[in-house]
Amino acid sequence: MLVTGGAGFLGSHLIDRLIDAGHDVLCVDNLFTGTRDNLAHLHGHPNFEFLRHDVTFPLYVEVDEIYNLACPASPIHYQHDPVQTTKTSVHGAINMLGLAKRLNCKILQASTSEVYGDPSVHPQREDYWGHVNPIGPRSCYDEGKRCAETLFFDYHRQHRLPIKVARIFNTYGPRMHPADGRVVSNFIMQALEGEPITLYGDGSQTRSFCYVDDLIDGFLRLMDSGPEVTGPVNLGNPREFTVRQLAEKIIELTGSRSTIVEAPLPQDDPRQRQPDISLARQVLGWNPTVSLEDGLVTTIAYFAGLASNRPVAVTKRTGSSAATAAI
Ligand SMILES: NC(=O)c1ccc[n+]([C@@H]2O[C@H](COP(=O)([O-])OP(=O)(O)OC[C@H]3O[C@@H](n4cnc5c(N)ncnc54)[C@H](O)[C@@H]3O)[C@@H](O)[C@H]2O)c1
Repeated sequence: MLVTGGAGFLGSHLIDRLIDAGHDVLCVDNLFTGTRDNLAHLHGHPNFEFLRHDVTFPLYVEVDEIYNLACPASPIHYQHDPVQTTKTSVHGAINMLGLAKRLNCKILQASTSEVYGDPSVHPQREDYWGHVNPIGPRSCYDEGKRCAETLFFDYHRQHRLPIKVARIFNTYGPRMHPADGRVVSNFIMQALEGEPITLYGDGSQTRSFCYVDDLIDGFLRLMDSGPEVTGPVNLGNPREFTVRQLAEKIIELTGSRSTIVEAPLPQDDPRQRQPDISLARQVLGWNPTVSLEDGLVTTIAYFAGLASNRPVAVTKRTGSSAATAAI
């Protein structure tokens, strides 16, 4: 199995699951946002190999399946070098599709809910074509991913390539980059450090948050689905929260003294984001099962370990009873 972007947040969890299932895994990553630490536990594992390589250049390897995840995913990182971001999505897709064509193997694309832009329909179904600014600061990512989807479907139509396109909605969990500016990691780090939690706008914009284990389960089901299932398939947790509710929940779970402050909303920030996952339920039998609270507890524990060795009070609720654990 080839996993591009395997040293990143989602890629490293995917590799763990593939190795657990007994596969040989080749991880290809240029370590732009990913780290060796995410894969340190696999060092020396007989089924694991790492290749430092930039997917904007062609790759010649022999594999049975390709998961194409390489691409910086957070605005801070993808706006750092927007031209490279578009190249990673577009040239990266061309190179990986070319490889899949040569090997005649299945290839899965990690696409994104950002292809819907600032949606005018809610929740978003796969047949909604999106509302995307083609020339804004987020466009390198949004349009890059849209073009990658186009390439996947053209390779499918033109070359009969077996493709799988997953449209991923906000996913969180251990191994997220602590300084990537994504809402969950931002809030947790601010809460753990007792700093004010920054809400962009008034916090009434909504997001849905999927725990990483659920998402990876969706990837594996999609890759194992029959050839008629090409996607795009939404993968995300439909349970919707306002960003303010998320901040309040994180303050509660960390026992932090942080206050909430408001800052100006960035350009093109979507107001609402919620997947319709009827298709994933129907064709993959997939449903996210981890509650926001349970997922946050694990994620907070991970960030607390990164931030310091200090014990952090985490309040975990089970049913109606609340228990406080030191992590
Ligand atoms: N995490 C989410 O909520 C989310 C949501 C939607 C889509 N996605 C998509 O899922 C994929 C993985 O996201 P993530 O959250 O794990 O992000 P991440 O930044 O942690 O991982 C991306 C990985 O790709 C690598 N990479 C970047 N450019 C590369 C290049 N040119 N060549 C080789 N490797 C390169 C990075 O070093 C990193 O290891 C991305 O394609 C992202 O767009 C993620």
